[in-house]
Amino acid sequence: MKFGHTTLLSHIAVGAALVSICRAQCQQPLPQNEQKWPYTPFTSSGLNILDSRGQRVSYVGTNWPGSLRPMVPEGLQYASADAIAEKIASLGMNVIRLAWATEMIDDIYENGHDTDLRTTFVETLGETTGEQVYHEVLRNNPEFNHSTTRLQAFDAVAAACAKHKIWVHLDNHQSRAGWCCNLTDGNGWFGYGYFNVTNWVRGLKFMAHYTSRWPNLVSMSLANELRPSLDPLSLTYGWKAWYENMIPAAQAVHDVNSDILIFLSGLNGDTAISPLISGHDLGGGYTFDKTKYNFADKIVLELHDYSFDQAFSNCSVFAADLYSMGWYVMNMSITKNVTNRLPVVMTEFGFPPETYQSSYPQCLKEFLVNNGIGWTMWDLCGSYYIRQGILNYDGLWGLLNENWTAWRNESAIEKFYIPLVQATLAGH
Ligand SMILES: *[C@@H]1O[C@H](CO)[C@@H](O)[C@H](O)[C@H]1NC(C)=O
Ligand SMILES: *[C@@H]1O[C@H](CO)[C@@H](O)[C@H](O)[C@H]1NC(C)=O
Ligand SMILES: *[C@@H]1O[C@H](CO)[C@@H](O)[C@H](O)[C@H]1NC(C)=O
Ligand SMILES: *[C@@H]1O[C@H](CO)[C@@H](O)[C@H](O)[C@H]1NC(C)=O
Ligand SMILES: *[C@@H]1O[C@H](CO)[C@@H](O)[C@H](O)[C@H]1NC(C)=O
Ligand SMILES: *[C@@H]1O[C@H](CO)[C@@H](O)[C@H](O)[C@H]1NC(C)=O
Ligand SMILES: *[C@@H]1O[C@H](CO)[C@@H](O)[C@H](O)[C@H]1NC(C)=O
Ligand SMILES: *[C@@H]1O[C@H](CO)[C@@H](O)[C@H](O)[C@H]1NC(C)=O
Repeated sequence: MKFGHTTLLSHIAVGAALVSICRAQCQQPLPQNEQKWPYTPFTSSGLNILDSRGQRVSYVGTNWPGSLRPMVPEGLQYASADAIAEKIASLGMNVIRLAWATEMIDDIYENGHDTDLRTTFVETLGETTGEQVYHEVLRNNPEFNHSTTRLQAFDAVAAACAKHKIWVHLDNHQSRAGWCCNLTDGNGWFGYGYFNVTNWVRGLKFMAHYTSRWPNLVSMSLANELRPSLDPLSLTYGWKAWYENMIPAAQAVHDVNSDILIFLSGLNGDTAISPLISGHDLGGGYTFDKTKYNFADKIVLELHDYSFDQAFSNCSVFAADLYSMGWYVMNMSITKNVTNRLPVVMTEFGFPPETYQSSYPQCLKEFLVNNGIGWTMWDLCGSYYIRQGILNYDGLWGLLNENWTAWRNESAIEKFYIPLVQATLAGH
């Protein structure tokens, strides 16, 4: 389907109106026993995410990137969206964090229509490989055709996940599509490099509206791994600019789709959120106090953790360090410096699966389970269509092998991921 430019814009405005009429008239709460999965909308209540029945939800899932150069969810040249979703579900996982790039939406506004799959693969992978990958994607996903677009590939992933009872969390991962993240990639900070704030908010609103048709959409994060930009040097880096950009963006998303949870990430590549919990001065006279916002019951915080973020000698030191980043809020017995009790989800952590017995994965597992923390691990791939300029890049940290046919390391699945899923869910 092609959007004309005018159609696209009126589609957003009219759609938003329809959504709110429908919310008033169509979503009378059903008696508990009549409610069926996906149990949406979710709300944020104290430290918990609650489903529409009021039951606590723990995110247990994986990142499914769709924000690298072709801007198509990864893996579809090796398997159908359905087969991949089935594999995720077989681990007991209940959510994917689906990454998209603002550039995809910029293209739609610029061209007046979304880009079809053949065009995106040829443009990003080259004529020969692009054609090959395009044909493999069609062969594996027979519902696709010559006019299927990037957003329709996202639709297919969301639908496959719905079929396997997997929720979708949308993640604005990049401004310019590509591999994330470093300090000079121009994607890290508001208004610097490729990070055009107007386009970012426009993209968030577009996606919040467009994806409201996905029954299993539950939440959206606004910006992945905010970080200083060294090239060009981001002089505004800090909490003040965070507040001036994130709060209006959250409000804009909420105005378009008031059902979804809004995930707020912190600074330093999403390893710092303390002032959002403490309510301390952010500079410029700003303080974060959730009661000020009409989306207070939709706010969730996210943090990331990788072994290279920390040096630690044992799991106690590891946990203490994580506490200082903001996780102390999960401990109800700590009341000092807590103004906003909000759920926190670890939306990224990762390691090469064959190293699952080493201290970082093991301490991490203990920490997540002891503190009742939901998570989405990095990541699902497999291989990437193209990453850092390399075609068919083998993702050594992925759950799946290079050709998406089997787990990369069976022991890591059996001894680490499945037990972690079960222990997290049992922590309810
Ligand atoms: C092509 O696929 C898209 C979804 O990917 C679908 O909406 C459209 O109807 C299909 N077109 C044809 C001609 O089958
Ligand atoms: C940072 O990322 C950009 C974009 O992916 C890449 O071109 C550049 O080489 C990276 N720099 C370093 C030091 O890795
Ligand atoms: C951001 O992009 C818009 C187009 O959507 C453009 O008009 C504007 O000049 C850009 N802003 C900056 C600061 O580059
Ligand atoms: C962990 O390491 C710290 C600092 O090296 C030490 O003080 C502490 O006793 C250790 N804890 C355990 C349980 O080994
Ligand atoms: C929570 O904090 C208390 C008091 O500081 C501490 O004794 C307890 O071990 C903490 N709980 C966890 C799970 O870390
Ligand atoms: C509370 O916040 C202040 C100011 O940020 C900080 O100096 C102090 O260490 C914090 N206290 C605790 C217990 O986290
Ligand atoms: C999986 O990881 C285990 C533990 O490190 C290792 O012994 C095994 O060789 C790995 N298997 C594969 C297929 O890499
Ligand atoms: C997929 O990869 C595995 C190991 O990397 C290999 O054994 C297998 O033959 C491959 N399958 C196909 C269909 O390419």
